[in-house]
Amino acid sequence: MAVQICFLLSWALFCSTAMLLAIFLKHRKGCGKSDRKLPPGEMGLPWIGETAYFYRSQRGNQLFEEFVQPRVAKYGKIFKTRLLGSPTIIVNGAEANRFFLSNEFKLVISSWPTTSVQLMGINSIMEKQGEQHRFLREIIATSLGPAGLEILVPKICDSVQLYLDKNWNVRDEISLFHSAKALTFTIVLVCLLGLNFEPGTLSTFERVLEGVFAAPVSFPGSKLSRAKKARREIKEMLIKVVREKRKEMESGLVGDERLLFTRFVSGMIRGEISEEEVIDNVVLLVFAAHDTTSFAIAMTFKMLAEHPDCHYLLLQEHDDIMSRRRPGENLTLEDTKKMKYTWQVARESMRLFPPIFGSFRKAIADIEYEGFTIPKGWKVLWTTYGTHYNEEYFKDPLTFNPRRFEEPIPPYAYLPFGGGPRICAGNQLAKLNILIFIHYVVTRYNWSLLCPDEQITMDPLPFPSHGMPIKVSLKSS
Ligand code: HEM
Ligand SMILES: *[C@@H]1O[C@H](CO)[C@@H](O)[C@H](O)[C@H]1NC(C)=O
Ligand SMILES: *[C@@H]1O[C@H](CO)[C@@H](O)[C@H](O)[C@H]1NC(C)=O
Repeated sequence: MAVQICFLLSWALFCSTAMLLAIFLKHRKGCGKSDRKLPPGEMGLPWIGETAYFYRSQRGNQLFEEFVQPRVAKYGKIFKTRLLGSPTIIVNGAEANRFFLSNEFKLVISSWPTTSVQLMGINSIMEKQGEQHRFLREIIATSLGPAGLEILVPKICDSVQLYLDKNWNVRDEISLFHSAKALTFTIVLVCLLGLNFEPGTLSTFERVLEGVFAAPVSFPGSKLSRAKKARREIKEMLIKVVREKRKEMESGLVGDERLLFTRFVSGMIRGEISEEEVIDNVVLLVFAAHDTTSFAIAMTFKMLAEHPDCHYLLLQEHDDIMSRRRPGENLTLEDTKKMKYTWQVARESMRLFPPIFGSFRKAIADIEYEGFTIPKGWKVLWTTYGTHYNEEYFKDPLTFNPRRFEEPIPPYAYLPFGGGPRICAGNQLAKLNILIFIHYVVTRYNWSLLCPDEQITMDPLPFPSHGMPIKVSLKSS
């Protein structure tokens, strides 16, 4: 009986697939212009395409090795596939990165899954194009310009020290990844935006983030429905804060214009941006900073643990900086500029373990590239690994060698922060966050990994599967 049902089911599946395939092939023939040449590659089954392979290799953090690399070997640096219903061109190499990233708004626009857009909000910068995009970028960039960074440094120092004193001094086993996330959250919300938050807010935000790449099905108890509920709570909370701030400023209380939140609300009072835009962009900034910065920090520490000689050099740099300051005194922007080797270590860690694999674009016109046509409406995925692991740009690409950053890197070959008009708006903040966190940890604590062989998983952002537990003890002096 069971065998029969099984047979019937497979037969039904076979028939429907064959039918879809026939429709699909006919359709493709019908609309193909004779002079256009699509890149090589397999489209797989209708709709589903190669999605299953893509996800499987992603989960094991082998997206490049298991999915991209074999196809590059077979078809070249540009190939086609189909992911979640969308015909997609995957492109690799500095030249392709330059072409697609710098043609944002002209030939392509960034393209996010529907769930991500719903949870971040349709008014966030990631959904803006052209003039509106430029305007929002400018507001954010001003807070992260030289004057903004100058006042950010002592604040970040203060947050890091407070956090470590409270959490690291009283325990000897710590989840490094969790600590990095908690701090990144504080740094964006408190230091950059200038907001205060109640305990529990971080976990509400994290519930939203868990839904950002979840399957687009919403039933009670699903990741997505929990995320949507958390998103509504955040919206209510932020509406209150925005309106209070607006009232304060309208009644003559001058806000500190160096804080991003103040700038947002000023823009609102002048009628340049809406309340929804302010709220959605606050949520987006937390999202953009959260897992990315924490993963970069975690991988930098992993590399330091595996390369004691680098750790030794790095520690010298920080001991030197510390010796010029009174105990407890905050660092300055000038001090962070002296952390040259530390930044090389962090950059090299992000080269080998980029927090963002790459990102999707959508063609807004038929694009001619390298003798191929990418039809309007198709997606394009550019990747960091396509250049980061390529010996054309990095000698011995799999070797950890921070000193390689002494030499100039070819443009669009090193892209942890992306490139073109959508290059990471927070890269300077990420840099300060990483450098200052490292400074206080290495100068104050002896530490070691508790789980040196910990796997990296992706979901779809990469993370250490056990949260990177470490053993810490305060250095005696
Ligand atoms: C190590 C940490 C970080 C990494 C690796 C990273 C990486 C990236 C990448 C690759 C993009 C471009 C995505 C694309 O082209 O589709 C991006 C965009 C963005 N990032 Fe970051 N990011 C980091 C930290 C941050 C922080 C701390 C913030 C702000 C607080 C931030 C805010 C943004 C924003 C607002 C965008 C969108 C820019 C736009 O659409 O114009 N990021 N980030
Ligand atoms: C460090 O900076 C913070 C924030 O700006 C400030 O509140 C604190 O007093 C500073 N600490 C020292 C020791 O100057
Ligand atoms: C920290 O490590 C250093 C070097 O390994 C060692 O000399 C020192 O005694 C350690 N301090 C503590 C408090 O464990």
